[in-house]
Amino acid sequence: MALTGLVGWRGMVGSVLMDRMQAEGDFALIEPLFFSTSNAGGLAPAWAKNETKLQDAFDIEALKRCEIIITAQGGDYTSEVFPKLRAAGWKGHWIDAASTLRMEPDAVIVLDPVNLPVIKNALAKGGRNWIGGNCTVSCMLMGVGALYKAGLVEWMSTQTYQAASGGGAQHMRELLTQYGTLNDAVRPLLDDPKSAILEIDRLVAETQRGLSPEQTANFGVPLGGSLIPWIDKDLGNGVSKEEWKGGAETNKILGQGAGFGSAAVPVDGFCVRVGAMRCHSQALTFKLKKDVPLADIEAMIAADNDWVKVVPNTRAATIRELTPVAVTGTMSIPVGRLRKMAMGSEYLGAFTIGDQLLWGAAEPLRRMLRILLE
Ligand code: HSE
Repeated sequence: MALTGLVGWRGMVGSVLMDRMQAEGDFALIEPLFFSTSNAGGLAPAWAKNETKLQDAFDIEALKRCEIIITAQGGDYTSEVFPKLRAAGWKGHWIDAASTLRMEPDAVIVLDPVNLPVIKNALAKGGRNWIGGNCTVSCMLMGVGALYKAGLVEWMSTQTYQAASGGGAQHMRELLTQYGTLNDAVRPLLDDPKSAILEIDRLVAETQRGLSPEQTANFGVPLGGSLIPWIDKDLGNGVSKEEWKGGAETNKILGQGAGFGSAAVPVDGFCVRVGAMRCHSQALTFKLKKDVPLADIEAMIAADNDWVKVVPNTRAATIRELTPVAVTGTMSIPVGRLRKMAMGSEYLGAFTIGDQLLWGAAEPLRRMLRILLE
């Protein structure tokens, strides 16, 4: 059985990964070796098999024992350990949730329901670096990948509504703390049905603006009752790194664009942080290469993979099935609001949602493990 190193399995993405691996019986197919950055020598989790001691995640010799390593430890860990491990001659498969290696020419961004041929092609050529994609991009392609596979997309514009979890566990806590502070500030007025709504509103704004640095330490500004139209670094050209990833990673996942000797599909838009917990949502506008009947588009999307679900473009279905609350904690990828837009019959609108810890992070990694074990 393949000795498989697990690093960062205790963090938020790592915990979701462990849950999914247990649910799918992945541990029956591997000999897991659990690593730790802080507790080497401690006891591995209950579902360990023969290797019951935690290994030091910085011990290159211990890592070298593994045929496969899966890490959700984060980018700093990857930057420090991966080059040393390869320099030490390790030839195993590296499966990584962090973005560090994504755009390296010898790395494949894994999302097998969308790009199995790209993965298989790289495997046949000796590929060994398998990196999970940006969460928003992965969730989007799980929803509307069919249109790309059919070669129908001339360009796509995205407007994202990204959850707090994309920032990390502390960001989720901060959001909820902010909501709590806001509620506390107006509780007596809310309890009084005769109180004036504009007074409540004024107090909320005053409380938001008065949040302490500790209460905004992660997002930098209030998010509860607000939004933040910038995610990740400032690239200095008016584009956020998250927006840049939308185009760069979509094309790389699909195996098209500069590195593949073909034209990239332009993908651009705005990435916005909202007060959702762990589901990323996106409003999409497509310019299609030709006018395709809406019913054909719906059928194409619905048939693309086992998790995508077309939501009828009605108010009732949309508010019931196409919200972060409906999707959170599930593998479902609903795609709705599908309609031709006022600009012309080649312009298609859509709205899609995915759990950014499942399809956006953990699931593509464990599925890549399964591909390696085939
Ligand atoms: N960059 C994403 C976000 C995290 O901040 O929401 C998942 O790739």
